[in-house]
Amino acid sequence: MQVRIAPSKALGGAIRLPGDKSISHRYAILAAIAEGTSTLRNFSSGADPHSSLGCMQSLGIRVEKLDGEIKVYGQGLRGLQASTGQLDAGNSGSTIRMLSGILAGQPFASTIFGDESLSHRPMKRIMTPLEMMGARIEAVDGTYPPITIHGTRDLRAIHYETPIASAQVKSCVLFAGLSCEGETTVTEPLKTRDHSELALREFGADIRMAGRTTTITGGKELQGRELYVPGDLSGAAFFLVAAMMSDDANVVLYDVGVNPSRTALIDFLAGGGGQVKVLDVRSTGGELVGDLRVRNSKFQGGVIEKGMTAALIDEIPVLAVLGATSEHGLTVRDASELRVKETDRIATVADNLRRMGIEIETSADGFYIPGKQTFRAAEVDSFGDHRIGMAFAVAGLAAVGGDTIVNEAEAASVSFPEFFATLESIRT
Ligand code: S3P
Repeated sequence: MQVRIAPSKALGGAIRLPGDKSISHRYAILAAIAEGTSTLRNFSSGADPHSSLGCMQSLGIRVEKLDGEIKVYGQGLRGLQASTGQLDAGNSGSTIRMLSGILAGQPFASTIFGDESLSHRPMKRIMTPLEMMGARIEAVDGTYPPITIHGTRDLRAIHYETPIASAQVKSCVLFAGLSCEGETTVTEPLKTRDHSELALREFGADIRMAGRTTTITGGKELQGRELYVPGDLSGAAFFLVAAMMSDDANVVLYDVGVNPSRTALIDFLAGGGGQVKVLDVRSTGGELVGDLRVRNSKFQGGVIEKGMTAALIDEIPVLAVLGATSEHGLTVRDASELRVKETDRIATVADNLRRMGIEIETSADGFYIPGKQTFRAAEVDSFGDHRIGMAFAVAGLAAVGGDTIVNEAEAASVSFPEFFATLESIRT
């Protein structure tokens, strides 16, 4: 599907985002292995979290998708049944990596596959700890999906130091820890998003967090819950940047998740001169939610490196767009993880920027984009990657010289099916 984006000078209005993708995955998986029914409100409309739900259904869990809420009829940690077919994770790295932790503790084998993009994403990072715990896992070339997990009821608790800062790897090990006797501990090089820890606590797990170390004590059954999923801050990022780049903007985003392990984005934007405010913060299910107000702003640009890179990793494509029009440009370092996302995001960002007349220098683990550049309307591609398609729709709003065409725009639907309609709704 091609989407045509006309340039826009002014943006205004109030919008809502789909439920947070990261949180939706965790609720889908944990609700299925909890005892009793969970009701999940504002669950993500994106295809990715529905891949997690679909896998749980294939493992014998009843799921009802009602208007505005999802009911998951959890069967307890021992209530999953071997799937008759392979489990389909679609485009979702979160599904395959986090679900593997649960499947490692089941007394049956499961195979998880995904689409073309997922089939090129590395799984060794979760295989290593799960094998240390006693599961046996097969993968293509030792790392790529499909992966087959030979689970065991005798999974062993470990203390694992993750070599890379990855919330998916941490979550996988903690989820596996649910099936172990005793304490499973994960220490990360940098603190990554803590949605799994908060969700595990909500569902009643025995979990402790201290700095970069999280400990879960296995063997305790989880209990079904009623939970609300806050709006997706990573989805909000496209609108924050669009509004900042606009000549005249005043946009409110309601009920957005503002968990401190995700708000580096807001700090980075505001720190560089962005007029972004968080209003009316409240708490739900252990997560913080607030309303955001953003106005057109002069952005200074800056450097994203070290821990900040990990904290902003999903937002870097749209920050690259913002960087091109900033005062001093944008430098990104320590971002080799970008090369193993849904696409090689250093390559796909650079390709689209160049098509729009923007200069960028890339390296193995980052890039530099000089500031004060002007986007020229062009034909760009999502390359099948949701965040690339959405980032370059935002670039199209700011372009001169006509409409920008986004090819394969349907990719947005893995996290934000309503994205293009929402973008049109704030034109004034
Ligand atoms: C996610 C963690 C991050 C992020 C991804 C979602 C999660 O990946 O990029 O979009 O929900 O835990 P890594 O854990 O691979 O860093």
